[in-house]
Amino acid sequence: KERVAILISGRGSNMDALIAACQKPSFPASIELVISNNPDALGLDSARKAGISTQVIDHHSFGKDRQAHERQIDAALQAHNISTICLAGYMRILTPFLINNWKGRILNIHPSILPLFPGLNTHAKAIQAGMKVHGCTVHIVTEDMDQGPILGQAIVPILPFDTEHTLAQRLLKQEHILYPQVLKNFLRKEPADCSTEALLNG
Ligand code: GAR
Repeated sequence: KERVAILISGRGSNMDALIAACQKPSFPASIELVISNNPDALGLDSARKAGISTQVIDHHSFGKDRQAHERQIDAALQAHNISTICLAGYMRILTPFLINNWKGRILNIHPSILPLFPGLNTHAKAIQAGMKVHGCTVHIVTEDMDQGPILGQAIVPILPFDTEHTLAQRLLKQEHILYPQVLKNFLRKEPADCSTEALLNG
């Protein structure tokens, strides 16, 4: 099995979905390490409960030296013999140092139909733009934020009375289906198979 690390900053529900998927014997990955930049991330508890090694590498300890923070992340990843990294609600922009050390091996899930709505507040931006659908994207992380090669996408409808919150909740369910599916296909070097209809009914 491929040794995967997950980087989180908060709730960690996508991390939970990846952990659950990896518990199936046929899944080609095992989650070996969870790293959080935030000591209070809720996801740390659920990773510990699942028996996964966790490390807090708090960016505040490194002042403005982003690379020093990432050097420590890099060392932890190396120490655990990690082959692939999944960002799951990791709310820091990576520097070229980590991106190039792990070139093509860092995946991210972003809550929009990229290349639409990169960055933050994607649900509000989609509603504001009058979109009738919204979605999520799993992509490879490159130096251009939220612009790396797209591996898979899922969409949800935007309903007339949606708020950011109701829309985010509907989308999150699809994120939890999409991310493990894309990771599996990525590791097996197969093209992503995300049928929108299956996801909408899922
Ligand atoms: C998810 O919706 C994820 O797509 C988004 O943050 C949320 C994390 O939730 N990621 C980004 O916005 C990345 N820029 P989770 O911690 O419960 O997985």
